[in-house]
Amino acid sequence: MNGRDLVRSMKAVGSAGATQGLRAVRASWRMRRADAVGLPPRGAERARVPGPVQSVQPGPGGGVIRFGRSELRIMVAVNGAVFWGWDGAGPEPSHALAERCPEPDPRAVLEPDKDGGWRVVSERATVVVSRHGAIEVLTPGGVTVRRDLPPRWWELAEGGPARWMQRSEVPADARFFGLGGRASGPRLRNGTYRLWNTDPGGAFGPGDDPLYITMPVQLVVADAATHLAFHDTSWDGTVTLREGEEGAGSGHDRAGACELRMTGGPLRCWVMVGTPARVLLAWASLTGAPALPPAWALGHHHARWGFGSEQEVRRIVAGYQERGLPLDAVHLDIDHYDGHRAFTVDHERFPKLPQLAEELGRDGIRLVSIVDPAVKAEPGNTVYDSGVAEDAFVRDAAGRPVRGVAWPGEVVFPDFTHARVREWWGRLYEERLAQGFAGFWHDMNEPTSFAAFGESTLPRSARHDLEGRGGDHREAHNVYALGMARAGYEGLRELAPEERPFVFSRSGWAGMQRYGGTWSGDIATGWPGLRASLSLVMGLGLCGVPYSGPDVGGFDGSPSPELYLRWFQLGAYLPLFRTHASLRAGRREPWSFGPDVLEHARVALLERRRLLPYFMTLAHLARRTGAPYVRPLWWGAPEDRALRDCEDAFLLGDCLLVAPVLDPGADRRAVQLPRGRWYDTVTERVYQGPGQILVDAPLSRIPVLARAGAVLPVRGEDGGLELEVWAPARGRTGGGLLVPDAGDGWGEPDIERYTARWRGRRVVVEREGEDGVSAPPHPVRVRGVGEC
Ligand code: GLC
Repeated sequence: MNGRDLVRSMKAVGSAGATQGLRAVRASWRMRRADAVGLPPRGAERARVPGPVQSVQPGPGGGVIRFGRSELRIMVAVNGAVFWGWDGAGPEPSHALAERCPEPDPRAVLEPDKDGGWRVVSERATVVVSRHGAIEVLTPGGVTVRRDLPPRWWELAEGGPARWMQRSEVPADARFFGLGGRASGPRLRNGTYRLWNTDPGGAFGPGDDPLYITMPVQLVVADAATHLAFHDTSWDGTVTLREGEEGAGSGHDRAGACELRMTGGPLRCWVMVGTPARVLLAWASLTGAPALPPAWALGHHHARWGFGSEQEVRRIVAGYQERGLPLDAVHLDIDHYDGHRAFTVDHERFPKLPQLAEELGRDGIRLVSIVDPAVKAEPGNTVYDSGVAEDAFVRDAAGRPVRGVAWPGEVVFPDFTHARVREWWGRLYEERLAQGFAGFWHDMNEPTSFAAFGESTLPRSARHDLEGRGGDHREAHNVYALGMARAGYEGLRELAPEERPFVFSRSGWAGMQRYGGTWSGDIATGWPGLRASLSLVMGLGLCGVPYSGPDVGGFDGSPSPELYLRWFQLGAYLPLFRTHASLRAGRREPWSFGPDVLEHARVALLERRRLLPYFMTLAHLARRTGAPYVRPLWWGAPEDRALRDCEDAFLLGDCLLVAPVLDPGADRRAVQLPRGRWYDTVTERVYQGPGQILVDAPLSRIPVLARAGAVLPVRGEDGGLELEVWAPARGRTGGGLLVPDAGDGWGEPDIERYTARWRGRRVVVEREGEDGVSAPPHPVRVRGVGEC
């Protein structure tokens, strides 16, 4: 264990009290012993590379190429994604894929290439395999976007999983994004990033890595094209990135480089090439459409570890109501449980939860429950007893249940990689629904077990079902939370079939968007934490997880009024807009920071409410296209290099550009504008992109710009739908979409498409339909005309 691990472990144990500390010491020793006997010894290793090409066997969408010491399977799928797998690895089984592997593209065929190599030409990409096993992916125009060098394996003489290493090159101008939720991005700087879901054990900042969600998903943006590379392997590993350097026209460019080192698992990869939108569409078709949240989940949430009683919940809710502040959900943390046991209630402090839920529900406020996976190992605890009866808990190599330490004390962990266990777990949500909860907040599912030393998780030797294939925690760790999300989501679909489940989870893996979203976890209170909030949301969006947000105000300590306000203003434009803080942290209510902050927070809350139809439309578009709500500025213009390096602003859908204030003392800020005409949404002042502008950012608001021509669905003052239209530039047209959502349920609303154009001295908006255009069925408000 290095010094950093030690500090993390001590933080985790320290926050849990003295008895927990002793338990954590014992658990750490147990874990060490379990792995000493339960894992195969690491003996001498033998290195292997593919060797020279020997024969090929064409197959659907590509074929198999045999090398001296390995074979490579290549397949181009109908969605344009390229798959390759070494040593017989196919696309399945996979934890990430949504259903089955997509069909091969019948038009893609394997054909001989120069120098004894082979290639597959398809509509969206060409794959060239050299005779030594380098794999190059090119655009249809023949420009290389990625070159994977022949891999290398290290095998144990006595068998068992082989470690492997894969080096790749990307264009010199490329920038890396993704790898799950990283606090120091969204652009990933040179360095080594670990792929092992980790609770940092206390509030984290931009220097902490890895965090709760890691994914072997790289999104690479370069002049030639954008591509997403997914190494479908859940094992522990590292990715080392090095951006390239351009030789300023001297012809001496140095390519960007990426080196993946994995401790086991299949060596296989999916690559998708195109524009950012195309790549995310292909990714969503491969790993599943993002779950659609109910409308209320796009409102404002107030959470707190330590409400402590129903009275306190009522007091906070009344605080919102008396001040006319919108509130859509209240989250109850582990302190409402009986002794921190999941699926129980402390009836002394929360005697009438269903009644409270009903009362709040009448005012349109939903209750959300935290759900931790660890089950207190104590006969008499009904969840434990039923889990034992189901044989639900993870066992060690000798067949004994693995015991760890979590909030309730000594605990055991359900094996979510087993279908039967997921079903059992899914049924437990019936108790939560009966208590009146409408949404679920999955926590501690890296999984975390407090440790005095070593890693705060399960022993690597712990056995898992892995969908009947059997295996251990080395493979199951990173997909543990994914299985829990699936269990919760599928359980809720059974229990409340008319409603869209609302599940968000601290940990997860590729494909987690199928079941819901995530949040920042315990982000440190401070300006760096505010910046990290945006990095996490943007990075996760580019990995296909569009719904997330930070603990507004930070998890620990007490933010200054200015920091709280700036966080609140940013949060109002992120998909999950939730205030949350730790047991010992200072207040987080908008009225706890003085009258000015209250007034400015009110503006942010009301604006969020006004934008709800737009957020709901973005949620539908994310489900249909995989495009995140929050997009980097380069989303529509990846060739604009100045945008590629811009990390402090974002596009919210197609219509808005949000430029949060991320530094103290600012009253104006620079904004890098993409091409086109933009309006400051408050002053209506016009700016012309591309280029950098300076805009006012007084404490009362953060700059938000609207794209000229945008048609934005908003909530009118009477609560009905309204279209806010920003005048297109003269001679240009604009447009926008509205998905009129019922708020919940499974109805498929038709997308309403609008165009905006100048007619004489007026801007008119028309609805496009199959039988031509018609007047919009909603009131229209045109803005920005004075500036044209
Ligand atoms: C973890 C969660 C945090 C929660 C706390 C108590 O630290 O990340 O959000 O409040 O546990 O349940």
